[in-house]
Amino acid sequence: MNQFEKEKIDRIKKSENNKAFLDSAKYFFLESVISKYSYNFSALGRPIIQYPQDMVAMQEIIWKVRPDLIIETGIAHGGSLIMNASMLALLDICEAIELGGDTMISPKESKRKVIGIDIDIRSHNKKAIESHPMASRIHMIQGSSIDPLIIKKVKKLAYDYKRIIVCLDSNHTHSHVLEELKAYAPLTSVGSYCVVFDTVVEDLPHKFFDDRPWGPGNSPKTAVQEFLKNFKEFEIDKDICNKLLITVAPEGYLRRNK
Ligand SMILES: C[S@@+](CC[C@H](N)C(=O)[O-])C[C@H]1O[C@@H](n2cnc3c(N)ncnc32)[C@H](O)[C@@H]1O
Repeated sequence: MNQFEKEKIDRIKKSENNKAFLDSAKYFFLESVISKYSYNFSALGRPIIQYPQDMVAMQEIIWKVRPDLIIETGIAHGGSLIMNASMLALLDICEAIELGGDTMISPKESKRKVIGIDIDIRSHNKKAIESHPMASRIHMIQGSSIDPLIIKKVKKLAYDYKRIIVCLDSNHTHSHVLEELKAYAPLTSVGSYCVVFDTVVEDLPHKFFDDRPWGPGNSPKTAVQEFLKNFKEFEIDKDICNKLLITVAPEGYLRRNK
């Protein structure tokens, strides 16, 4: 490991105990939720409901894992689908260059795909996603992510893939996320990640979720905690959280170790 990497690891470790830094991140986060900051961004032109820090974390994970399939629950406007599909396109280009071949690999030749599942794919979003240049790498499925028929369909599609990342960002109740984890996390390949978004719900005041079925005590984080009791092959990657500090997924980046 080179000096630059060593210093980075040390710096990230120190953040874990840097109270002033942690407090300021927490303060920023609270204010950002009030001002609906997560709705400010887009990915290649499509609105993405994420924080830039988590978008960077996804970019790092995708480069590290080099997946051939990304499975996502929760499409909304399609921003995360498009961003992840664009990363798959970049992987194809990089691998073509590494092999000394043609960098203009046709999307139709590429096996890499993103599968997106949403209970309600609004027609204007569907149309915009289908007419985006990244569309050929995207497979959308409408239905509840915990419907056994949808799970069966996704498992069938995933069968031929070897390096799989899973992202869960749909209904954020404990029971729903736990069902999603049981259904989709086992598809995560060894060395890859299952990312559970909005675990941060657990760390925010109850009053923020008066109009939602989820909230502290009934959140993606409580689902992760219960899931990890039985699925020992997964471990929280704490370094990702310590590096981001501002994230919707504290304790939500789950690495599959075996
Ligand atoms: C937070 S948004 C997803 C944001 C998107 N991943 C992004 O980064 O832009 C949540 C989405 O989950 C969908 N959803 C809610 N319940 C669901 C369910 N039971 N199954 C699948 N999707 C669901 C909603 O329709 C909504 O589009």
